[in-house]
Amino acid sequence: MIKVKKRKVLLLPGDGIGPEVTKEVRKIIEWFNKNKSLDFEIDEDLAGGASYDKHGTPITDEVFYKALESEVVILGAVGGPKWDNLEFSKKPERALLKLRKELKLFANLRPAICFKQLVDASSLKPEIVSGLDIMIVRELTGGIYFGEPRGIKPIDKGERKGINTHTYTTSEIVRVAKVAFDLAKKRANKVTSCEKSNVMEAGQLWKEEVQALHDKEYKDVELNHMLADNCAMQLLRNPKQFDVIVTDNLFGDMLSDQASMLTGSLGLLPSASLGAKNKNGEMRAMYEPIHGAAPDIAGKGIANPIATILSFAMALKYSLDLDKDAEGLEKAVQSVLDDGLRTKDILTKGMKEVSTTEMGDAIISKLK
Ligand code: IPM
Ligand code: MG
Repeated sequence: MIKVKKRKVLLLPGDGIGPEVTKEVRKIIEWFNKNKSLDFEIDEDLAGGASYDKHGTPITDEVFYKALESEVVILGAVGGPKWDNLEFSKKPERALLKLRKELKLFANLRPAICFKQLVDASSLKPEIVSGLDIMIVRELTGGIYFGEPRGIKPIDKGERKGINTHTYTTSEIVRVAKVAFDLAKKRANKVTSCEKSNVMEAGQLWKEEVQALHDKEYKDVELNHMLADNCAMQLLRNPKQFDVIVTDNLFGDMLSDQASMLTGSLGLLPSASLGAKNKNGEMRAMYEPIHGAAPDIAGKGIANPIATILSFAMALKYSLDLDKDAEGLEKAVQSVLDDGLRTKDILTKGMKEVSTTEMGDAIISKLK
């Protein structure tokens, strides 16, 4: 078998159910190493609360540099009530935000796909969600998440003031909008750009820059602008009107949570955070399930590993140009769902409940 160059994959299991679901991905990567002409070099380290507990910081410099040198980072989940009262710089979430910012992962792709086997798991009527396939492109390194000034400062009469700043520049808007337009071209060719241009200058700039880019380079793609609050409403009213949604960091955070629940299965949805390509055409990227650390079910062996496994499928596609292998993995997942295997979160009547590990094993048994 011809082996290609070693590709570095860094696993950061993190907290809560993160380690359980990441373990299943590791098994899958090992399967690819054994059965395909691929040779992933797998490394694993601490991030989030787990890192704080051991090192007093949510991510050590060593781990950060490892991430910098890896072609693919796969993150399980970070956070949990245990660390809720830490100061901001020590919170588990800081690991995630630092990786996003410092690896310059400005485009966050969050698909909301309604799996046909799970139409009934959605809280919306089946006809509203069946066949749903939306891609949310969330800007990930700007906006109010990172704007300065920020902080909490005392003002007079014993009052305090909390400050965060929402800013966007032309280039920040244009680079993420390009990702959205390029994706739309490979899909249903439609982009909806969301902001609050009726109340925010940064939103007005967002709208103008997306329109200008469209008129200059993407005339052939259908573009609509929508106020973010209206988008939230439209996602519930008629979600299938959307193909690609592009929006800022904060609106993207909220709209993607909302869109994910349309599918009835948070445990199935992956995400990719992509950076710019360097001059050798290499791109930094981090892949994570959309669901969080779910501390309430951590350690019970019942978490759904599919979102993390599909995150690796996204890595195969977007970072490693292994579209065929990505498809193979996605098909294996579908096929296990067709067989009626379900983890607890997506269990419905007549289906067979399996554990996290059993789900991982079942998916591996379908790989070819
Ligand atoms: C997400 C999460 C994060 C965010 C948290 C954990 C910092 O909600 O990835 O959507 O707000 O971006
Ligand atoms: Mg979120």
